Amino acid sequence: MAAAFGLVSALLALQAGASASSFFSLPRTYPNISACAAEPIAYSCENTTTIKNTCCSPTPGGLVLQTQFWDTYTGFEKKGQLLPKDSWTIHGLWPDNCDGSFEQYCDLSRQYDPAPSPAVLPDGTIVPAYTGPPVDTFVAEFGRLDLLAYMDKYWVSQGSLNSGFWGHEFAKHATCTSTFDVACYGPDYKKNQDVVDFFDAVVRAFKMYPTWEILAASGIQPSNKTTYSLTQLQTALKAQTGAIPYLGCGQNGTVLQEVWYFHHVLGSEQFGHYKTVDSTTTSSCSKTAGIHYYERTPTSEREVRLLP
Ligand SMILES: *[C@@H]1O[C@H](CO)[C@@H](O)[C@H](O)[C@H]1NC(C)=O
Ligand SMILES: *[C@@H]1O[C@H](CO)[C@@H](O)[C@H](O)[C@H]1NC(C)=O
Ligand SMILES: *[C@@H]1O[C@H](CO)[C@@H](O)[C@H](O)[C@H]1NC(C)=O
Ligand SMILES: *[C@@H]1O[C@H](CO)[C@@H](O)[C@H](O)[C@H]1NC(C)=O
Repeated sequence: MAAAFGLVSALLALQAGASASSFFSLPRTYPNISACAAEPIAYSCENTTTIKNTCCSPTPGGLVLQTQFWDTYTGFEKKGQLLPKDSWTIHGLWPDNCDGSFEQYCDLSRQYDPAPSPAVLPDGTIVPAYTGPPVDTFVAEFGRLDLLAYMDKYWVSQGSLNSGFWGHEFAKHATCTSTFDVACYGPDYKKNQDVVDFFDAVVRAFKMYPTWEILAASGIQPSNKTTYSLTQLQTALKAQTGAIPYLGCGQNGTVLQEVWYFHHVLGSEQFGHYKTVDSTTTSSCSKTAGIHYYERTPTSEREVRLLP
């Protein structure tokens, strides 16, 4: 009876316009985006003078790149490290400065890269190799086996173990992304929570760009018999993204290897909105020669979309 009365009076109070937060505790977010609600609404790199709270918008690294690879083998096939069939793979999520320059390894207290590259920063700082437990154990400790399973399928390294590559991406790039600063997590920060949140943000950004399907829809499929022009590739991608990404090629610009999608972000990388913008970097693919988009070695890939 008392409980029912409590509920009724709560509902009456709500109707009377009281804010819900006086009855329910708001879920905690990292960073605290309730505090960000008071900030002016602006995309990163568009009006940088308005951004005061760097936990709310990536600053100065506001030109955010979601990068992907097209590899044809991993070199670790024997360890079961296989590429996902009919999909590009994740490289990372990078905070370039608005002018296209970038910082790296910004917080050596969060250095989880077993093979730092570069091992010495331009200012002479040495980045020591990490020898502790690999970052996949951090994700498991937070119970995020769903995230780990996705990363194993789509965030696949060539020439190194996946976990080392993930640690590299976090240490080199996320430590320079202001919205993942430990200070933004407040006093109840749990160690490595920022690492798990970064991996979630990377996956969220990657899912915006099904590169394989976008290209295939324009008749551009991996082939060891034909080649494509740079314009054909760019036109196909622009048709679904509204912008021209960077395309990276090897072998003198004739073998397609990477795509980088550029963004301005409104709000944090964790929760905010990504607006696709044109690449600020000129493609390394040939403008005149045909470009190979090679088929993979069949034993280097696996079906990932079947039910377990
Ligand atoms: C988050 O920010 C809001 C608005 O500034 C504030 O009321 C709330 O106390 C903050 N929460 C925490 C856990 O710091
Ligand atoms: C940038 O934001 C400031 C403060 O919100 C505003 O006064 C100014 O007009 C904005 N500048 C541009 C170019 O939009
Ligand atoms: C790249 O092209 C240049 C100029 O055509 C040529 O001299 C060079 O040997 C080529 N390199 C490779 C790796 O094919
Ligand atoms: C296609 O060519 C690439 C590059 O030479 C090679 O690695 C791959 O195994 C080839 N795939 C098939 C299916 O022949």
